[in-house]
Amino acid sequence: MKTFIQNLPKAELHLHIEGSFEPELMFEIAQRNQIDIPYNSVEEVRDAYKFDCLQDFLDIYYQGASVLIKEQDFYDLTYSYLKKCAAQNVRHTEIMFDPQTHTERGVAFETVINGIHRAIVDAKENLSVTALLIMSYLRHLGEADAFKTLEQSLPFKDKIAAVGLDSSEKGNPPSKFINVFKASEEAGYIPVAHAGEEGPAEYVWEALDLLNIQRIDHGNNALEDKNLVADIVSRDIALTVCPLSNSALQVVEDLKQHPLKKMLAAGLKVTINSDDPAYFGGQVNANYEAIQTALNLDKATLYELAKNSFQYSFLNQTIKSKYLKELDAYYALESGN
Ligand code: ADE
Ligand code: ZN
Repeated sequence: MKTFIQNLPKAELHLHIEGSFEPELMFEIAQRNQIDIPYNSVEEVRDAYKFDCLQDFLDIYYQGASVLIKEQDFYDLTYSYLKKCAAQNVRHTEIMFDPQTHTERGVAFETVINGIHRAIVDAKENLSVTALLIMSYLRHLGEADAFKTLEQSLPFKDKIAAVGLDSSEKGNPPSKFINVFKASEEAGYIPVAHAGEEGPAEYVWEALDLLNIQRIDHGNNALEDKNLVADIVSRDIALTVCPLSNSALQVVEDLKQHPLKKMLAAGLKVTINSDDPAYFGGQVNANYEAIQTALNLDKATLYELAKNSFQYSFLNQTIKSKYLKELDAYYALESGN
């Protein structure tokens, strides 16, 4: 199964670039920018990555991102992740970035976007990996701040496909962001949002009805409400599920209790993703492997998950079909069809 997963062509649809920041690169960039970090070794950093909930993780995640200052830092961070994509047969990725994590510290929006974008251009050329960008608003900073970010993004909007909503979910429902999502959509961005990770099913309803989201990040708690599940199925909207993240942030007690099979049985379109791989113990293939082992998934299910990842990407139909053909050829060979 490990080899089947390794060679399976796939897309990743839920990945925070700041969450791909491996401790080794963090040390290197901290050193060249002469920034002190509160750790003496890579082992110490990894030891600190033990979380009871989303907020525990977010505090450490924002601290890690604070060493990113120059355009080259954002380039190195992004290119390092894209190399991992190529090594895992991730053919396409939709990368979230949190501009406010950086602009709040005085780093210019253009420094962030230009570094990330340049890495994406180079990866397409050198690694044959395609990528789109999702600009995520930090929900704990509120709507006015998100509006400022939207304004800053407009000169670069040809480089950004979608907008997202992340950070502390509880107490920050989608209803606080109706106006900025409406304006973002008018600017041409596709709306998505984290919903139902720690928050209730009600937040997923809000994200669908009030923000018009076209994909649900996580969505685990949607299962609390049968009518909601039926609604998501009828809208044909996918969930970007992140098994190792769910386990690390105690969204699920144990991966064996993960609701992925229930989701699929209910007709939900599920994809597998790593969320913040540097913090949660594995890249996307490790997520496929962990959930396959925990739930004893067969090859047909893994194929379905990979197929969803291309099908529910925001790629245009031509490139989507190209990747789907590649996947089908692989699966036909592997399953002897
Ligand atoms: N930012 C980075 N990872 C996140 C997650 N899993 N949930 C909410 N915000 C995040
Ligand atoms: Zn996330």
